[in-house]
Amino acid sequence: MTSTAPIGMFDSGFGGLTVAAQLRHDMPHEHVLFYGDSAHAPYGLKTPDQIRERCFSIADHFVAQGVKALVVACNTATSACVEDMRQRYDIPVIGMEPALKVACDRGLGVRQHVIVAATPLTLHEHKFAALMDRFKQDHDITPLPCPNLVTTVESGRILDEHEAQSAVHSYFGGFDWSSVNSVVLGCTHFVFFRKYFLQMCPQDVAIIDGNEGTIRHLHVVLEALGDLAPEQAKGGIDIANSDTSARMSERSEQLFHLL
Ligand code: DGL
Repeated sequence: MTSTAPIGMFDSGFGGLTVAAQLRHDMPHEHVLFYGDSAHAPYGLKTPDQIRERCFSIADHFVAQGVKALVVACNTATSACVEDMRQRYDIPVIGMEPALKVACDRGLGVRQHVIVAATPLTLHEHKFAALMDRFKQDHDITPLPCPNLVTTVESGRILDEHEAQSAVHSYFGGFDWSSVNSVVLGCTHFVFFRKYFLQMCPQDVAIIDGNEGTIRHLHVVLEALGDLAPEQAKGGIDIANSDTSARMSERSEQLFHLL
């Protein structure tokens, strides 16, 4: 069995476009409805209750449109309320978390030093504490909140090479990279900075995000339910934003095409 219903995906703003691009690449037959909540970004400096309210409002709307699954393309929203969303909706809800396991497994048993860059909320919530507990005995983990990277994307300053570079340097410029094995991009907005991380870090430092793993998980879940789109389906993406100004929709398109 297959399903031609769309997949609803959202983020606090433009960061989730990096996950949408991965979905378009890995599951080209699927139709994605993407919603960026830029009018209410950043989520990383809000309370979990405020974020839950936004997520319910967005997801209720998607469910009313008949989506077959919800992808929370936001580590922060996942930390705040993915379990509440799973109780509220009877379709699969796929969340995201910093890809710390991927970074630690990369050491093949050798102790790793991993920097986890994320929003303040993600790093303070119990979901991340539980993740740390699984790995902190055997690895050195440095959590690093980087809220200004989110605003650099939302404001469009990411499109200016110099601004993007100096935003990354303001957090990472002082690191002694000789002891670092990997940087986990634990916020979907940060994936837009990948090329600046690659420029700044020594070649043996891996830059890791959770986008591919998230889409693989979505694929497994839909396949198990018999809900993958049929192979003859063309697939596509509709991008919407809570900031409905022409400037923001132009920025969405520009950022999506950067990926
Ligand atoms: N893109 C989001 C994430 O993955 C959060 C950005 C924000 O603070 O709004 O965590």
